[in-house]
Amino acid sequence: MKIGMLTSGGDCQGLNSALRGVAKTLYNELGSTVTIYGIRDGYRGLIEADYRQMNPQDFSDILTLGGTILGTSRQPFKEMRKITEDSEETKLEKMLRTVDHEGFDCLVILGGNGTHKTAHLLSQHGVNVVTLPKTIDNDLWGTETTFGFQSAINIASTVIDSIHSTAFSHSRVFIVEVMGHKAGWLTLYAGIASGADIIVIPEIPYSAEKIAQAIEKRERNGKRFSILAVAEGAISQEEAAMSKKAFKAAREQMPYPSISYRIADELKALTGQEIRVTIPGHYQRGGAPCPADRLLTTRFGVAAAQLIRQKKFGYMVALQSNHIVPVPLSEVAGKLKTVPPDGEIVRAARALGLSMGD
Ligand code: F6P
Repeated sequence: MKIGMLTSGGDCQGLNSALRGVAKTLYNELGSTVTIYGIRDGYRGLIEADYRQMNPQDFSDILTLGGTILGTSRQPFKEMRKITEDSEETKLEKMLRTVDHEGFDCLVILGGNGTHKTAHLLSQHGVNVVTLPKTIDNDLWGTETTFGFQSAINIASTVIDSIHSTAFSHSRVFIVEVMGHKAGWLTLYAGIASGADIIVIPEIPYSAEKIAQAIEKRERNGKRFSILAVAEGAISQEEAAMSKKAFKAAREQMPYPSISYRIADELKALTGQEIRVTIPGHYQRGGAPCPADRLLTTRFGVAAAQLIRQKKFGYMVALQSNHIVPVPLSEVAGKLKTVPPDGEIVRAARALGLSMGD
């Protein structure tokens, strides 16, 4: 059996431990009847037929290793059906040719939302595919948790924890900008876990006035500082009312490197306070997976290998009610899992007295 493996899209913690989980299970259970190929840099390697045969040693000592030993790249889904510059073929056709030429019996694909759309497309064109849900954003439909999410929560929480002492010393307002363009899971979880005072996520458009009021209320209650956890994809209530086109144009004109700097300026004007912005950025995606992600990726990896053994293709392994279950790619592809604005976790935050910026 020939298996091709690839990691695609933005990296995250746990990619290597997930690859290890799949590979170790396949080698253990299928022995020499299985050959694994590592496809380089995600779908790029599949498009350009860039892959190499792996051996069991390649998957040793990588449980705690950050990044991905296979490399990754972003290959937008919308380009998959476009003719490439150097040939008459589309990227999709090139990928199908690679699968056919090498005779891959199955592709194991680790990725997030965009990756799953392409995985589903390949599956619709007859490729046997099994996928694993990765992303620090936790925004994949069909699974309660993606891997990388817990490790990123740990990092973002550590940043907000540390900001507390300097915010206290200087009686300052701080904004910590957390990754997540479309979904606020990471900001919400890290914000609650580290005691942020105000949490701003894309799913709940913010009002600068309401945030300023929350800061002033804290001051009246004798608090020396306020800390905001702001998702990089935060939007204002005015922006939420705009058409997509008007929003895009407004953002193109925005004279700030990121949304947090705009909110800082808005709050400075409203409160007269000094506001500092901290952006941990890609640091949130780097380094070793936390033990919870090592465990989750190992469970996902074993489950993916078992699907391959059963020849059950066209599925993503997912976590539901603490069980690992297969979810059809058709149910996952193209769907975003965002934070329900009135869900239990948001209600818990509000019950604690946190402001959600609205
Ligand atoms: O999808 C994961 C993620 O880290 C998002 O949180 C973030 O918005 C994006 O990737 C950053 O992408 P890039 O690494 O391409 O800058």
